[in-house]
Amino acid sequence: MGKSISRLVQQISNYSGLKESDSLARKLEFILKGLSENDLDQWVQSIELDPYKQELPALVEDLNNHETYFFRDEAQMRILETKILPEMVKRKLLAGDKSIKIWSAACSSGEETYTLAMMLLKTFIDEKLSVKLHEGLILPPHGWLIEINGTDISRQVICKAKEGIYESAGNGLSSFRNFPPAYMEYFTLSKEYEDTLGNKKKIYRVNEVLKSFVNFDVFNLNSPMPPKSGYDLVLCRNLMIYLHDEAQEKVQRVIKSSLSPGGMFMFSAVDKLCNSVGIETHREMGCVYYEKM
Ligand SMILES: C[S@@+](CC[C@H](N)C(=O)[O-])C[C@H]1O[C@@H](n2cnc3c(N)ncnc32)[C@H](O)[C@@H]1O
Repeated sequence: MGKSISRLVQQISNYSGLKESDSLARKLEFILKGLSENDLDQWVQSIELDPYKQELPALVEDLNNHETYFFRDEAQMRILETKILPEMVKRKLLAGDKSIKIWSAACSSGEETYTLAMMLLKTFIDEKLSVKLHEGLILPPHGWLIEINGTDISRQVICKAKEGIYESAGNGLSSFRNFPPAYMEYFTLSKEYEDTLGNKKKIYRVNEVLKSFVNFDVFNLNSPMPPKSGYDLVLCRNLMIYLHDEAQEKVQRVIKSSLSPGGMFMFSAVDKLCNSVGIETHREMGCVYYEKM
């Protein structure tokens, strides 16, 4: 690995929290292969001297894994749908607090965020607080303030999330792999076509009721403060494995400080909680989730 590349890897790691690794260096070498060693050296130096590090957000776009899909991780979805969300709504009703704030942190192109919105709306319908008029048309729960925020470090995926347009490829790795058919009514089919290889593709649009509860923003979790606070639930999944230890601790601090007391949070099954002070760990239905005391 060239010296300039290794300095750049360090800058990127400081900025985004990504682990310094050979594969990161190789990706950078590939992206920057047109530059001479001298130009690269000067460019890296200018980044090191720039307090705002303007080039780093653009570089990070090409270095992250953005893979995601709706209803990812069945066990986590089951516990959210059957326990965490219904209990949250009931607790709120008892407390006379008709507001719910959820954060899908590192949401990529928005599938996780819309999944949370679909499951929350279903909870409201099941609790008879919201009415399903006909396919996909739902009266939002009267008098409730619902905010479901999706954030990601990448501007490109946040643009896609805001559009709310997703392709179903029937097989393979589309956003709809593993999709429970009952939730299909939250989408409108906008186009059907066959690609050049003869594969049938369908393009779906997220319906407007669902969209009205959801908003998206660019946010780097490797920051000292959360973008907002007072959350009842935060999901931050399939991110920690890419981050170095210090960044994992920082991200988890940010998530904890974004939550209200009694707020829940969930990582991926393989992730570890760095600091359990003031946190209760719940292990149920094949999942681990946490509660801020
Ligand atoms: C593999 S995707 C996970 C998406 C979704 N949470 C899921 O589980 O399906 C990881 C996402 O983390 C984002 N990411 C990486 N570093 C980040 C950071 N420092 N702050 C916010 N998002 C970050 C990437 O851009 C990527 O979209």
